[in-house]
Amino acid sequence: METARITVNGNEAPISPAAPHTTVLDFLRERGLTGTKEGCAEGECGACSVLVAHPGVNKPTDWVAVNACLVPVAALDGQEIVTSEGLATPGAPGTPPTLHPVQEEMAVRGGSQCGYCTPGFICSMAAEYYRPDRCAHAASAADSGAVSADHTDPEHGPNGFDLHALSGNLCRCTGYRPIRDAAFAVGQPTDEDPLARRREQSPPAPAVTEYTQGGRAFHRKESLAETLRLLHERPDAVVVAGSTDWGVEVNIRSRRADCVVAVDRLPELRELLVESDHIEIGAALTLTEIERRLDGSVPLLAELFPQFASRLIRNGATLGGNLGTGSPIGDSPPVLLALEAAVVLAGVDGEREVPLAEYFTGYRQSVRRPGELIRAVRVPLPLSPVVAFHKIAKRRFDDISSVAVAFALDIEDGTVRKARIGLGGVAATPIRALAAEEALEGEAWTAETVEAAAQLLRAAGTPMNDHRASAGYRSAMLGQSLLKLYAQTTEAVSS
Ligand code: FES
Ligand code: FES
Repeated sequence: METARITVNGNEAPISPAAPHTTVLDFLRERGLTGTKEGCAEGECGACSVLVAHPGVNKPTDWVAVNACLVPVAALDGQEIVTSEGLATPGAPGTPPTLHPVQEEMAVRGGSQCGYCTPGFICSMAAEYYRPDRCAHAASAADSGAVSADHTDPEHGPNGFDLHALSGNLCRCTGYRPIRDAAFAVGQPTDEDPLARRREQSPPAPAVTEYTQGGRAFHRKESLAETLRLLHERPDAVVVAGSTDWGVEVNIRSRRADCVVAVDRLPELRELLVESDHIEIGAALTLTEIERRLDGSVPLLAELFPQFASRLIRNGATLGGNLGTGSPIGDSPPVLLALEAAVVLAGVDGEREVPLAEYFTGYRQSVRRPGELIRAVRVPLPLSPVVAFHKIAKRRFDDISSVAVAFALDIEDGTVRKARIGLGGVAATPIRALAAEEALEGEAWTAETVEAAAQLLRAAGTPMNDHRASAGYRSAMLGQSLLKLYAQTTEAVSS
């Protein structure tokens, strides 16, 4: 346990004596790095954002922003992180530091008032600043300090800055316009920028971790086989990837586990394979990695990702985790049900493939046996061409759905050949809308067919009344969702 170490702003430090459940946030603050703030402790405000050197999509290393309040520091054994304090360049004795370009822009454009949220915004903004494929075509306008008004996409700046990078950061006093101005004004990193240069080298390899304190342990094994043996011996173990769910349990519900097992860097869970008849997505790839590597080639997943929590969460969250928790309101199950996906379950005795439609058995229950791990998700090909994901929530982004509907339809010559509809938030498990699917298949794609199917869709599941929505509202939204899809497809045809 004495060997567990983390590099913070270039300085290596032992993780001990932190408890296995101690978050990166608490670890940093106990060491005086109090720029990293706690706002909510459940991944919703971004005040705790820090940068982690992570395997890159387009370069060896990406600087990825994550919620430090959710990640146990033991999960970053052997890894490198940068906090807001590490972004500025220290000055000579007696002189102030040189601000990082994102800090400079936030300062000069009035992006900070009380400052509580600012270090988190700075880290999220810095991650986007260093994103290798951030479009640079208009960077010259930003380099000159001008904020161009002629870009047509309101979610991207003229410098290619994607505002979704800040979707997990909340500010309650400055207002977002000056923050957006700062984001849209940053240029490209220079060749001398040490964090830009760091992207050209490999990230730290995952460390084999056996970190024990106070009778509790955090494990990271080298291979899937070793991990499965451990899970076989310890079926009570909590499995974590990005800890975006378990971190909330630890912080808000004070849950503790005697044995936590990290799977996020297992190579066997991090492959993305495109075969002739299916795509296999590793269960421990983060949603950001899947989004960037698929690059829109699975349009229904491309609709899902921007609506799935925030960029900070998507940088840690995985499909394995979203399915593993078995939540009836997870965002990915409706989409994966509509795609007719299957999960590959691995155990010490081998693997088995289970259609997702048969995976969930009850509230937060599934056919996954103790000691089994979700290794991958398989999406069959070819894909149905008419797709939509409608997430009905109180906020457009970074919210929990009241109800979610995913459609995947084959419509040929005006007739519905195949219909798959996945629903979330209307039953104890995510479900398929089988009656509505049946009412559509083989029928003409007309207003009458759609209205008849919408009636059946309104009756799907057993929606509840709760603080997010009434049962009646949820039912109404199901039917409305199909009517909206019909309107969109007919508009597309007539325009
Ligand atoms: Fe709010 Fe971490 S403290 S997201
Ligand atoms: Fe006060 Fe953002 S500057 S909360």
